[in-house]
Amino acid sequence: MTGFLELHSAAVAQLEAAATLEAIEAVRVEFWGRKGKLALASKEFGKLTPEERARSGKLLNEYKQAFEQLYEFRKARLDAAALDARLESEWLDLTAPAPGVRPGSLHPVTQVQKELEDLFVSLGFAIMDGPEVETEHYNFDALNIPSHHPARDMQDTFWLRDGRLLRTHTSPVQVRALEKFGPPLKMIAPGRVFRNEEVDASHEHTFYQLEGMMVDRDVSVAHLIYFMKTLLSAVFHRDVTIRLRPGYFPFVEPGFELDIQCLICGGSGCPVCKHSGWVELLPCGLVNPEVLRYSGVDPKEWNGFAFGLGLTRLVMMRYAIDDIRLLMSGDLRFLNQF
Ligand code: PHE
Repeated sequence: MTGFLELHSAAVAQLEAAATLEAIEAVRVEFWGRKGKLALASKEFGKLTPEERARSGKLLNEYKQAFEQLYEFRKARLDAAALDARLESEWLDLTAPAPGVRPGSLHPVTQVQKELEDLFVSLGFAIMDGPEVETEHYNFDALNIPSHHPARDMQDTFWLRDGRLLRTHTSPVQVRALEKFGPPLKMIAPGRVFRNEEVDASHEHTFYQLEGMMVDRDVSVAHLIYFMKTLLSAVFHRDVTIRLRPGYFPFVEPGFELDIQCLICGGSGCPVCKHSGWVELLPCGLVNPEVLRYSGVDPKEWNGFAFGLGLTRLVMMRYAIDDIRLLMSGDLRFLNQF
């Protein structure tokens, strides 16, 4: 049949010229698709004699096979070219040094906290915990700070709508621990506390304290001083200059403020020590009998000491950090140094 050869030659020429996978597919559809020019050619076979029909059918079949072979060949070539192009563009150097994977590290506050926990455990203290959302009772009343008491204003409090509050100190754990375990008791309670403060280089709304308490028979100020000295020499691995002042806290009597000479400026004055040369670090005292009574402990039989270490401040002293805001910043440039 004439016409087949021309069509077939055209199909082959176009297939060879087609430069993309889409283009060769278009050629296939044009000639050999369901409605393709060569596929439809067999429709004309009706007019032919049986011999002609057999010859034409055989011829058309050969053209079809030749086309398919060439199609597969072209397709393989174009597939390979596409793959080459992709490998070129998505090239990855497996021998390049990997960007350093740095293991995480503990926050300096956590590091110092753990160190102190180890120290106190070695001295026979238990580690305790209390809720950060506290009741007025545990945060104030049971610590001998009734609602009319001016001492409530010493700690600016975040109140919740339901009457509870964010604990302003870790002292409520003293009461909780005594209620739960009773005397004799040696415990520490490290934790996060909150105050409604104007934030600056030395004040944060969120910081850490480490509460400590020992209740037993015949506990004296001498015990308190012994433990505080042991604590400070362990923390700073060196001699620090301290001073004791009388301090007022409704839950201790007598109460003291233990200050250390500022380790950042060496006592000459800087923003951290508010230019005084001293940093308040360790308020402490003998547990007020009222607190023992509130906790269900008989103050005629038992007494004790308590302290509230400013953990955040201690960390600042130890690492000479001059801005408290860095500790909560999450800034890796800062944290990576520890
Ligand atoms: N809870 C006190 C505060 O945060 C500190 C303190 C604790 C004082 C224990 C004395 C004894 O201010």
